[in-house]
Amino acid sequence: MSAIEFKNVSRSFGRDGKDVLVLDNVSLTVASNEFVAIVGPSGCGKTTCMRMAAGLEFPSQGTVSVAGKPVIEPGPDRAVVFQQFALFPWKSVYENIDFGLRAKGLDEAERKRLIAHYIGLMNLSGFESAFPHQLSGGMQQRVAIARAYALDPQALLMDEPFGALDAQTRVVMQEELVKLARKNPRTVLFITHAVEEAVYLADRVVIMTSRPGRVKEILDIKSIREQEQWDQHARVEDVMDLASFVHLRTRIWKSLREEHAGDPEH
Ligand SMILES: Nc1ncnc2c1ncn2[C@@H]1O[C@H](COP(=O)(O)OP(=O)(O)O)[C@@H](O)[C@H]1O
Ligand SMILES: [Mg+2]
Repeated sequence: MSAIEFKNVSRSFGRDGKDVLVLDNVSLTVASNEFVAIVGPSGCGKTTCMRMAAGLEFPSQGTVSVAGKPVIEPGPDRAVVFQQFALFPWKSVYENIDFGLRAKGLDEAERKRLIAHYIGLMNLSGFESAFPHQLSGGMQQRVAIARAYALDPQALLMDEPFGALDAQTRVVMQEELVKLARKNPRTVLFITHAVEEAVYLADRVVIMTSRPGRVKEILDIKSIREQEQWDQHARVEDVMDLASFVHLRTRIWKSLREEHAGDPEH
């Protein structure tokens, strides 16, 4: 069974009294514990896809399901990480991570264990009692990711989570997320417009067309990553230098460039 499934999903929005088609018959599945990245030109409907999986938006046609159930509202079976760090400003790092675990009804010992585990994995040790305003953007986003992973949801939904970070912080976050994701496989739908980020992180990359967004191509990255042993390299820049990586990146760039060329708004 697919953990996340978009089945013939279309969505239009009213604009100036007309219906504008934003997503056109998108079908896409994410298997259990698979990490899928979506790349596509801005405005092609990536965030709309994410909001539909989160239950914040609905298809005009077709269905979105998570763990076999049609999505009808937001729920604790899905954790969302957005570009803007959506932490509770009045809660400490510890309390931010704890909040969802309490809501899940876990006992205190188990919550403590999980929080310590993810705080360690996300390099947040020593900051347990800090408040979000005392942390850099990168650290706030680490808390958001730790919180999402600790919940162990059916689906993790991340919409450009590193989009607001500076380039150096972004690279460190990519390395940390790779470590976390390989050690703790989860079902992840990850949206980015950064091609390298998608290839580095994902098992498969979905390329979308410009608006109306359709699935243009889906590339299998995982088999190449494993065959070429990318995970032997600790640093992002070393992986990004490998011929097998460069080849995939260039392929996706070319595919996206065709979309830009055909879009009158660019
Ligand atoms: N609630 C809404 N009402 C009207 N138009 C919307 C709404 N949400 C998104 N859109 C339009 O849908 C298109 C796709 O938006 P979005 O999903 O944010 O794209 P992306 O994330 O790929 O950049 C854009 O043209 C945007 O203006
Ligand atoms: Mg977006």
